[in-house]
Amino acid sequence: MAITQNYYTLNNGLNIPKVGFGTWQLQAGKETYDSVLNALKVGYRHIDTAQTYWNEESVGQAVKDSSIPREEIFITTKLATKVKDYQGTIDAFHESLKKLQVDYIDLFLIHAPWSGTDRTNRYKEGNIESYKAMETLYNEGKVKAIGISNFDVEDTQNILDNTTIIPQVNQIAYFIGLKPQEVIEFCHQKGILIEAYSPLGVGHLLDNPTINQVAKQYKQTPAQICLRYLLQKGTLPLPKSAHKQRMIENLTLDFTIEPQDMALLDAVDEDPR
Ligand code: A2P
Repeated sequence: MAITQNYYTLNNGLNIPKVGFGTWQLQAGKETYDSVLNALKVGYRHIDTAQTYWNEESVGQAVKDSSIPREEIFITTKLATKVKDYQGTIDAFHESLKKLQVDYIDLFLIHAPWSGTDRTNRYKEGNIESYKAMETLYNEGKVKAIGISNFDVEDTQNILDNTTIIPQVNQIAYFIGLKPQEVIEFCHQKGILIEAYSPLGVGHLLDNPTINQVAKQYKQTPAQICLRYLLQKGTLPLPKSAHKQRMIENLTLDFTIEPQDMALLDAVDEDPR
């Protein structure tokens, strides 16, 4: 059975399909539309987009044309990093609703603590303001869950200290070889689910010899090893592919990596991006 039939339960009781379809780097228009439609056809029920992927309209059109009832699809979008104020967040959210052609979002995330390309300033006040707007949207029922992305421990603590609702999710870069242990442990302690973007290291991990050795041993593909590893770490992978066969492969994760092989994969220490 495809893993998409399984769910994590967020800290507010909402179920979220354990593997999401990532849409970063899918071109707006035909590429995104065809990919999302195919993903839905092969069984994905969780689609991850963002305002600054510039493809929300194509995602929305594919969701609509799939004829799958809205409530059966979990849709995430993310607030553009340039928006760091209360009203701007509310306005940007409504833009997303329009583009996606929906009347609620399942999960709305602050895309990053920084703004634009300026990563030196962590925008502590701005993130609190945006998060408070997201709390309003949550309390109004316009989003079913809220959270953060690319937040380290300090950025996350800033939200916990200054707002009311514990984030449901923190979406970070996480794949075999990358070791964001501190923020993962912190979030798990607080009941915040970690979502893993670039779970295949943007595809570059698939040549890694250790991963290939484990893949051979389990008669799985390197991509399946990468994704299963993340599930066994209690995180939610968001693989992207424009190819139907790979989409299916990335959902077929019904096997278990034994502890000694998890340890082998833990020992990989490189970021091939
Ligand atoms: P493509 O879209 O041409 O299938 P990540 O999810 O870490 O960002 O990785 C995405 C990259 O990995 C894309 O280049 C994608 O290529 C490739 N990819 C996704 N799934 C697979 C797979 N099962 N086998 C090989 N390459 C894959």
